[in-house]
Formats: sequence, C-alpha cells, structure tokens
Amino acid sequence: MKGIVFTEFLTMVEETFGFDMVDTIIEKSELPSGGAYSAVGTYPHTEIVSLVSQLSHESQMEVPLLLKTFGHYLFQSLAKAYPQFVDRTSAPLDFLEQVETYIHVEVRKLYPDAELPHFSCSRPNSENELHMIYESRRHMEDVCDGLIHGCLEYFKADCSVKREAYPDGRELFVISQNS
Ligand code: HEM
Repeated sequence: MKGIVFTEFLTMVEETFGFDMVDTIIEKSELPSGGAYSAVGTYPHTEIVSLVSQLSHESQMEVPLLLKTFGHYLFQSLAKAYPQFVDRTSAPLDFLEQVETYIHVEVRKLYPDAELPHFSCSRPNSENELHMIYESRRHMEDVCDGLIHGCLEYFKADCSVKREAYPDGRELFVISQNS
C-alpha cells in the first residue's frame, strides 16, 4: 500500500486525536516498518489494518466509522496532491466513472506497484444514477464509501449513496443525483 495512504491516515489521527494518539497506536501496532512512512514508499497493507484496529481500541470508535471518516479525509488529500485528475470535469458521476478508466490508470503509470481496486460502472436506470461495483482483495469498502462521500462533497453534489454487499464479496454502490 502506498505511503500516501499512511501519511494521510496519521495526519488525520493527529488532527483529530492529537500527537500522543499517533505515538500510542504506532507503538502498540508493532509494525515491521516501525511507523516511519514516506509518501512515495510502499508498505504492507496489513499495517493500516493494525493501525486502524489500535485506533478503534484506543478511541472506542467502531472500525467501519473510522475507515469511512478516513476515506472522506483521504479524498480531499488526493484532490490536493493530484489536481490534474479532479480538474478534468465538474460532473461528479462522470468523475466517479473515470476513477477506473482514467485516474487509477494514471496512478498505476506513476506507481506500477500500486494496489488498486477494480470498479465496474454502469447507469442501468438513468443518466443520474451511477452503479459502481467495487472489488478488491483488500476489502476497503468502508474507505471506498468515505472516498465517494468526500468526492461528492468536493463537487458540491446533491446525491444520495446506497450500498449493498454481494455474497461473492463485491460491493455495489448506487450514487443517485437528486437535481
Ligand atoms: C484524485 C482522485 C484519486 C486518486 C489520485 C487516487 C489514487 C489512489 C492511490 C494512490 C491509492 C493507493 C494505492 C496503493 O495503496 O497501492 C488509491 C487506492 C484506492 N482508491 Fe483511489 N484515487 C482517487 C480517487 C478515488 C475515488 C473517488 C475512489 C472511490 C470511488 C477511489 C477508490 C480507491 C480505493 C477503495 C482504494 C484502496 C485500495 C483498494 O480498495 O484495493 N479512489 N487511490
């Protein structure tokens, strides 16, 4: 997993809970990397799982809520770090559709070792209703949920989001534009 995910996660923890919390969760997670992340480095995905579960333990907040909150935060950070990807369109559903066909394709060119999810997108009922089926071995559905909400807020879009887990482990997100 790319270092930017870790550096942004720890920044969010510091802003929300303070630096002592960052220290505590790094220490208690017993990480192979020791918790020193560089934005361009690559680290085991299991380290974020340990950090989030320690944060849940220390803060008494549920893991899914922490992951959604992090996803929301992460979108703002990614949009700042990669303005060239968000400036291409002002239509939120078009943007979300382009995560699979353009943004993550470009991300993979920059970082060939990036571990990215797969999305199948369609608009089966109306142009204003996007179906995104998320698939990843890392099962970061809650982070994905937060990223989608962060994206909708960024585009100031009036949309509702519903999600449904498939028995095979994939997750359907239905994003409906209200106006
Ligand atoms: C400016 C926009 C975006 C950029 C630059 C971007 C880039 C990235 C990067 C660098 C990673 C980390 C890869 C790794 O750790 O190896 C990532 C992961 C991920 N991205 Fe994006 N992304 C963007 C928008 C989105 C949006 C809007 C969604 C949701 C629809 C999304 C869904 C995900 C998910 C769920 C992961 C976690 C990995 C997984 O689930 O397997 N991304 N993205």
